[in-house]
Amino acid sequence: MKKKKKLWSGAFQLATNADVETFTSSLSFDKALFQEDISCSIAHANMLNKQKIIPQDKAKKIIDGLQIILLKIEQGSFEFNTDNEDIHMSIESSLFELIGDDAGYLHTGRSRNDLIATDLRIYSRVATKEILNQLIAFRETLVELATQERLTIFPGYTHMQNAQPILLAHHFLAYEEMMKRDTDRFIELTNRINIMPLGSGALAGSGYDFDRPYLAKQLNFDKISKNSMDAVSDRDFVFDINSASAICMVHLSRLAEEIILWASSEFNLISIHDDFATGSSIMPQKKNPDVAELVRGKSARVIGNLMQILTLLKGLPLTYNRDLQEDKESLFDSIDTIINCLSITNGLLNSITINKIHAEKLAVQGYALATDIADYLTKKGVPFRKSHEIVGKIVLHCSNNNIQFSELSLEEYKNFNINFESDILNLDALTSINNRDLPGGTAVNQIELSIREASHQLKQDIQKIK
Ligand code: ARG
Repeated sequence: MKKKKKLWSGAFQLATNADVETFTSSLSFDKALFQEDISCSIAHANMLNKQKIIPQDKAKKIIDGLQIILLKIEQGSFEFNTDNEDIHMSIESSLFELIGDDAGYLHTGRSRNDLIATDLRIYSRVATKEILNQLIAFRETLVELATQERLTIFPGYTHMQNAQPILLAHHFLAYEEMMKRDTDRFIELTNRINIMPLGSGALAGSGYDFDRPYLAKQLNFDKISKNSMDAVSDRDFVFDINSASAICMVHLSRLAEEIILWASSEFNLISIHDDFATGSSIMPQKKNPDVAELVRGKSARVIGNLMQILTLLKGLPLTYNRDLQEDKESLFDSIDTIINCLSITNGLLNSITINKIHAEKLAVQGYALATDIADYLTKKGVPFRKSHEIVGKIVLHCSNNNIQFSELSLEEYKNFNINFESDILNLDALTSINNRDLPGGTAVNQIELSIREASHQLKQDIQKIK
């Protein structure tokens, strides 16, 4: 079959080498931008007509043709011609086939450089909305779990060593704080995405009397770009999405790691329901937390994508360079991965049972009430450093004799310090938890307040992203 002439081949005397054609083509991945590309072209044709740059009948023919192409792609009956190096060329050449030479009016005053930047911004805007919806759904689960587990006593760790008892709700609300910050980041970066490059031409601006605000209005952009050179080469919004996604994936990965630990027989703090666990092909007893492991694993590629885009731009002179074509696959991958991982981790959280009896027992093991005993003495007037030392000696005594604090009598306590009174025998995990009754602490009162605050901030964020 004879190849069609390329739309840009006027000054070329040789056909493109076949390997070069394959090497330079982006169609396999930028066809994801077909809707955005057609929207931009329709808006452009409308604007060319309004500004009397092209005649009305030609504009109408172009727009009708583009709408037919859109419908065909949506229905799956469109054949992308692989002779075309990218989505822009593919759609434009199909328009030629459909309406003839009048298609040639469409690209007036426009470059693929401002077009691709605009397509990608529209795509990013839609994707960010979807990420935000997933973040909100995720946070709803966290707040629900915090409400359910508002009285569940759980071990709290530092250095992966049992440290102090906490309420499990406090743990879930810690993730709500992280996800709230993620939400803020995505809301904020939307403002930076929503600036329209169209009209910047190849680099220096278009040579026609374009109505850029009219273009922006049709395409729902808040603002138009101020500098055509920046506009065609700026990919900060891609940094923004990759970076906010990498941070959010690190949060998910940390949660995934905790779920993996909690589900191990060593910790035995939760069990994952069968529908969210997987088996081993050789060890019949195994129930593995593969979903959490994969979320932890997939964070690596999103972090990698951030490194890739930063490195891509690092030495790039103004303005458009073909290197920029490499911005898309990693961006699409980060977007797909974060949406996927938020949704599956949400499902996973809804699919765990807490082993409350064991959690409460673990919460005081490893002398986790030691700080409370030191605080007890300090509240009786002993300087804290002194209390710390006394309780250190009690811990040593207990561990040498392989006993817990609860097995000590008042006399034994008094042997360590005279200030101990009988109320020391009432010290338990819940007393320890309720001792931390200040803003940000794990006491039951504070958790009740935090749950109310979290629900409130969640409602506010839902309003913001509407
Ligand atoms: N496929 C290109 C990209 O993704 C589109 C812009 C091409 N511009 C050009 N002057 N070759 O960046």
